[in-house]
Amino acid sequence: MALRTIRMQGDPVLGKVCREVKEITPKLEILIADMLETMYDACGVGLAAPQVGVLKRVVTIDVGDGPLVMINPRIVSADGEQTGGEGCLSLPGMAGQVTRPNHVIARAYDANMQEFEIEATELLARAICHEVDHLDGHMYTELVEGEIYEVSYEDDEEE
Ligand code: NI
Repeated sequence: MALRTIRMQGDPVLGKVCREVKEITPKLEILIADMLETMYDACGVGLAAPQVGVLKRVVTIDVGDGPLVMINPRIVSADGEQTGGEGCLSLPGMAGQVTRPNHVIARAYDANMQEFEIEATELLARAICHEVDHLDGHMYTELVEGEIYEVSYEDDEEE
C-alpha cells in the first residue's frame, strides 16, 4: 500500500465524470487499499477515486464504524434533511454549511464485486452523498449556503 497524492480543488480531474468499474483487477485492489490508507492518513471520513486522480467509480468511507468500500455506488432513495458543516480533503482546513438528505438507501458493489444495499442516516448519509457527487465531478462547495470558512483540523470532518 502507498499514500497517494490528494488532488486539490481546481484540479481538472475533480470536475470529470468517473467510469463504472466492470471487474476487480489487481490494480483496482491496490487502488482501494491506497485510498483507505490515504483517507486515514489525512484524517478524512471519505475519499473518492478522482481525488487521487483516478476516474473510476470507487469511494472509501469511515465515519467511525470501520471502513466502507463502495464501487459503482448509487443512491436509490433519499429523504429528510440535515444542514451542517461539511469539508473535503481536496479543500483542507475549510468547511461550509450544506443541506443533505438525512436518510439515504444506497446500492453498491463491495471489494469482491458483490452487490449490497446500505441504509444510512446523519453523517454516513452525508458522506455517501458527498462522495457520490465527487464521482460525477461535483464538489460540496457548489452546495454551500453562505460563506466557506476556515476550521481547525481537530474538529473538522473532511470528506
Ligand atoms: Ni470531498
